[in-house]
Amino acid sequence: MQMENSKFQQMIDDFTLDSDAIKEIAASFRYDIEHGVRETGESSLRMLKSYIGLPTGKEQGEYLALDFGGTNLRVVLIRLEGDGKFEVLKKVAKPLVKPGEYDFICADANADELFDFIADMVEEAIDGNRDKKYLLGHTFSFPSSQTNIYNARLIIWTKEFATKGVEGEVVNDLLKAALARKNLTNVEPTAVINDTVAVLLAAAYKLGNVNVGSIYATGHNTCYYETYTTAGLGKPAMVINMESGGFNKLAINKYDYKLDMESEKPYEQRLEKMVSGRYMGELLSYCLDDAWHTGKLPFTSIDISTILADNSDNLADVCKLLQEKTGLAVETEDAVWVKALAETIACRSARVVVATYCGIMWHLYPQGDIPKQYIAVDGSVFEKMPTVKDNMQKAIYEIMEEDADKLELVLENGGSALGAALAAAMKPVEG
Ligand code: BGC
Repeated sequence: MQMENSKFQQMIDDFTLDSDAIKEIAASFRYDIEHGVRETGESSLRMLKSYIGLPTGKEQGEYLALDFGGTNLRVVLIRLEGDGKFEVLKKVAKPLVKPGEYDFICADANADELFDFIADMVEEAIDGNRDKKYLLGHTFSFPSSQTNIYNARLIIWTKEFATKGVEGEVVNDLLKAALARKNLTNVEPTAVINDTVAVLLAAAYKLGNVNVGSIYATGHNTCYYETYTTAGLGKPAMVINMESGGFNKLAINKYDYKLDMESEKPYEQRLEKMVSGRYMGELLSYCLDDAWHTGKLPFTSIDISTILADNSDNLADVCKLLQEKTGLAVETEDAVWVKALAETIACRSARVVVATYCGIMWHLYPQGDIPKQYIAVDGSVFEKMPTVKDNMQKAIYEIMEEDADKLELVLENGGSALGAALAAAMKPVEG
């Protein structure tokens, strides 16, 4: 059967962003930062205060780190050794969903079940020791409003999490109560940070010279170190978790719209739904449904990576994947279209993400005197999806022109746990 490919060119056009479009995104992102910092009420960015600054690099001591942000949960015992060095003494990692066995992130699960599971992992990480005192840093990777370094209240679940009884709650109180139920009162949760903040702290500890931390994975978000000097507001300098995935001043196409309407939280996380690993496969699936009437298929960003990695002449891997997923007799000429579309979806994602980084730079250095620095990024899309890093680099040049050389994207792998340990070790910012 011959496949109907007439819609692909239009779909590719729908996902294409030219240089002017990404410059405009950078400018309107900067506008929202400025308004967020001044709290004018005009920003679509949450601009959440984290009550922590940047580490000195000299932090030392043994800390527990809880990394809770995606479908895998980790509890790590870490020794900070100063000089940007550290050692992982013990690591316990478990998925939050095991098909057929348990699922702690669906709407049928509740807060106590989820946090009891976490407390069990903490117990394992410290070998059941109930005598020694442990300070615990918690990387909690969801939008939370904080009043100090401990007190972080979940505003809204993202990434399609739906566990009942956590939204609106102080997450460390839930954790403390679960630890108490297991008689683990020697473990004291002291600090909560977002994963972007963890990445920034980890990179600042190891490398220095970094003001921006970002996650480009299942979810997407960025934080930066705000000194409030350019804003002239005289507030205490601290890291701001922008929740950039919630930026909504973006033109969306009909596939973005459909995805949004069918998601757990329509109208929320518009930027994240255009760029992150959780959603890119779904966008491709909506497009294939439009072209080939396949219905909604379970495409993931790993499938997108597989498609992008096939550089053979006959696109055998792409054909095989599409045949398996769609049950249709897909041939090379069809696969060529799908690959071009997948490339465009991934390219749009990379370009939008970079536009937000450039918007931050324009905010931080309004006179244009951008010093050379790293932008620390962690996450599977950044690390593993073919074409993404190249497209990001290209977009930096298009937007920043001669300033592009000042910015170096650097992979901060696994910064969530190290960042949590640092947060437990550092003196918080009051304010
Ligand atoms: C969350 C952010 C988080 C990001 C990356 C988003 O869905 O809202 O808080 O930083 O995912 O994990």
